[in-house]
Amino acid sequence: MINWKELLYPYEQAVEELLLKFRSLDKECRQLGMYSPIDSVCGRLKRPASILEKAGRKQIPPEKMEEEIEDIAGIRILCQFVEDIPKVIDMIRQRKDMTVIEERDYINHTKPSGYRSYHMIIRYPLQTALGEKIIPAEIQIRTNAMNFWATAEHSLRYKYSGNIPQQLQDRLTNCAEAAFRLDTEMATIREEITNAQRLNEIKNHLVANILENIHNLYFEAELADMNEINKEFIRVWNGDDMDALREFNEKLNVMAEMYRV
Ligand code: GTP
Ligand code: MG
Repeated sequence: MINWKELLYPYEQAVEELLLKFRSLDKECRQLGMYSPIDSVCGRLKRPASILEKAGRKQIPPEKMEEEIEDIAGIRILCQFVEDIPKVIDMIRQRKDMTVIEERDYINHTKPSGYRSYHMIIRYPLQTALGEKIIPAEIQIRTNAMNFWATAEHSLRYKYSGNIPQQLQDRLTNCAEAAFRLDTEMATIREEITNAQRLNEIKNHLVANILENIHNLYFEAELADMNEINKEFIRVWNGDDMDALREFNEKLNVMAEMYRV
C-alpha cells in the first residue's frame, strides 16, 4: 500500500516554493521597472491515478516512481511573447537554488500533435524536517497562445481517451496553426505593446503617488487648498498627459515639504 499523503507531501511543498519563487521574480522585475518575461505562473501536483498510469506505461516499478516520474511536481510559466521564453530559460539556468538536468524544446521541434512548449526538468533541494530531499520537477514554459491550444487539446484527448475523431483532430491541427500565427503576428507588434504596458505601469505608479500625497496633505493643508488640489488632480488625470501628471506630483511633493517645515 502506497501512503500517498506522505509520498506527495514534499512534492506539494516543492510546488508551493517554486510558485512563490517565480512569482516573486516576476514581481521584483516589475518593481525595479524592468521588463518581466513572465506573464503568470501556475503549478500542480500530479494525481495518484496519473502517477500510476504513467508508471504502468513506462514500466517503472513502485519503488522507483518518486525518482523516475519527473513531473509529480509541475509548474508552468506563461509568457506573452515567444521571445520571452529564452529569457525565462536563461533565468532558470542561472539560478543557484535548482539544477537543470534536462531540456526539451518542443517549440523548435513541434510534436506531431501540434504541441508546442519548452520543458525543463530540474532537481530542487527541498529543506524538510528530516533534512534535505532532492525533488525532481518539470517546468513548462510556453506562451498564452500555446497554452490555450494545449489546454484544449488535453481536454479533448482526455475525453476521447487519446482517440480523437479524425475530423476533430483536423480542426485541432488548424487551431495549432492559428495559435502559431497569433504568436508570430504578436511578435511583430511586440515593442508597441510592451511600450504601452510600460507607460501604463508608469502612469499607475504616478497616480498612486499623487493619491498618497493628497491623502497625506488632508491632515495638514487648508480645506480651500484641498478643494483646489482635487480639482486640479481631476483635470490633469483626464488630460492624460504624463508630463502634466509628473509636474502635478512634483508640486504636491513641494507642498508636502512646505507643510512639514
Ligand atoms: P508524459 O507525456 O507525461 O508521459 O511525459 P513524457 O515523459 O512523455 O514527456 P513529454 O515531454 O512528452 O510530456 C510531458 C508533459 O508535456 C505532459 O505531461 C503534458 O503536460 C505535456 N504534453 C506533452 N505532449 C503533449 C501534447 O501533445 N498535448 C498536450 N496537451 N500536452 C502535452
Ligand atoms: Mg508525453
